[in-house]
Amino acid sequence: MGAPDRGEWSSQIGFILAAAGSAIGLGNIWRFPYIAGEQGGGAFVLVYLACVLLLGLPVMLAEISLGRATQRNPVGALEQIRPGTRWKLLGYLALLTGLGILSYYAVIAGKVVAYLVGYASGGGAEAAGVLFGGPWKVCVFLLVFIVLTVLVVVGGVKHGIERWAKILMPVLLLMMFALIVRGLFLPGASEGLAWFLTPDFSKISFEVVLSAMSQAFFSLSLGMGAMLTYGSYLSRHQNLLRCGAWVVVFDTGIAILAGLMIFPAVFALGHDPTSGPTLIFEVLPSVFLGLPGGVVVGFAFFFLLSVAALTSTVSLLEVVTAYFVDERSWSRTTTVIAVGAAAFLLGVPSALNEAGVEPWTTVTAFGTTGFLGIMDFLWGNLSLAVGSLLLCLFVIFVWKVERCADEIESTAPEFRRLRTPFILAVRFLCPIAIAVILASIVLH
Ligand code: TRP
Repeated sequence: MGAPDRGEWSSQIGFILAAAGSAIGLGNIWRFPYIAGEQGGGAFVLVYLACVLLLGLPVMLAEISLGRATQRNPVGALEQIRPGTRWKLLGYLALLTGLGILSYYAVIAGKVVAYLVGYASGGGAEAAGVLFGGPWKVCVFLLVFIVLTVLVVVGGVKHGIERWAKILMPVLLLMMFALIVRGLFLPGASEGLAWFLTPDFSKISFEVVLSAMSQAFFSLSLGMGAMLTYGSYLSRHQNLLRCGAWVVVFDTGIAILAGLMIFPAVFALGHDPTSGPTLIFEVLPSVFLGLPGGVVVGFAFFFLLSVAALTSTVSLLEVVTAYFVDERSWSRTTTVIAVGAAAFLLGVPSALNEAGVEPWTTVTAFGTTGFLGIMDFLWGNLSLAVGSLLLCLFVIFVWKVERCADEIESTAPEFRRLRTPFILAVRFLCPIAIAVILASIVLH
């Protein structure tokens, strides 16, 4: 059993909002829309939905139930079920992955904040460019974002993470609906909707299915113990099926809504929807520029993006924090500051890459150029796939899928009907699909 004071959500909705906050992030609002748009529109969305339902939901439930059953961080959870074995290395991998993702994710999130400040000052993207210009300034925004994350996590599970999720997630939803409604009234909006949603099945290839699968894992925050750690703060009577299902529904809903928010405006003002990763920082600002009241819209957009990113970095920091608090009896405050400092230092090379400083822009490894891209490949792709695969194998061979299903069913009687499909998914579908993702990442 973990220490009694390690923390607990005050309610089911507290867990759902915090976990949805982790899942909903730059992955949903920045990455999902442009990948979907590029790779078959509505057809990609359908493939993505299938991946979320068949792979994402089972792995999500497995992670949450492993956390709740052990009431521990990733290392402690594995150690409790199979003490004294190398399985705990998987737990350490989860911690490293959390730190690794946090370090570069916070660089992009810092850029979002620079844009937010730019729009708040009335100067828009141009002002943001000045604010975010040069290596020092990029590092300062990285630091700002890490400090914000630290301030939330230092408050603890109930008074930090849950409290802020309860305030920020409704704000995010409201702003998003406002921006969608605003966009749909623009002339030409329906063309954007059609481009985003019309299924083009001819574009569905093996690669597209692969990218839908890995997008699903990243977006649902799976494979590095974030959901495990959040699940460990659930009490013994909360309904795991309902918790997991709501998080999946929120995350997927927001990803699709993000497309509905972005493309009508992009089309209405005649911009290029296939600009890929540069969509939000380059194309959208010029869209806002052409829009009456564009500065307000831009402010709202970057505000909701900052919120989404913050609740995600909070979960990345919490995973590492939970380990030091549970296993090393460090105080939460000391841990959070130390881990935050480590994430900042590790993030500096990514920040310098973002600021265009040599050699960080030109380093090449694993077929990727630029330090930030390399970090994303290493932690955001490779390590998440390894982590999810090993986690599945741990549940199959060590913990046993039946026991996992019992843990879920113990507080969710309605799970009985889903038990067999769940067991089949965790035992066969998930490991095979993740192994294929992993192979493609390694061979890329
Ligand atoms: N899911 C978040 C997003 O979509 C990012 C994230 C937060 C994450 N925690 C994670 C990804 C843990 C993988 C693992 O932006």
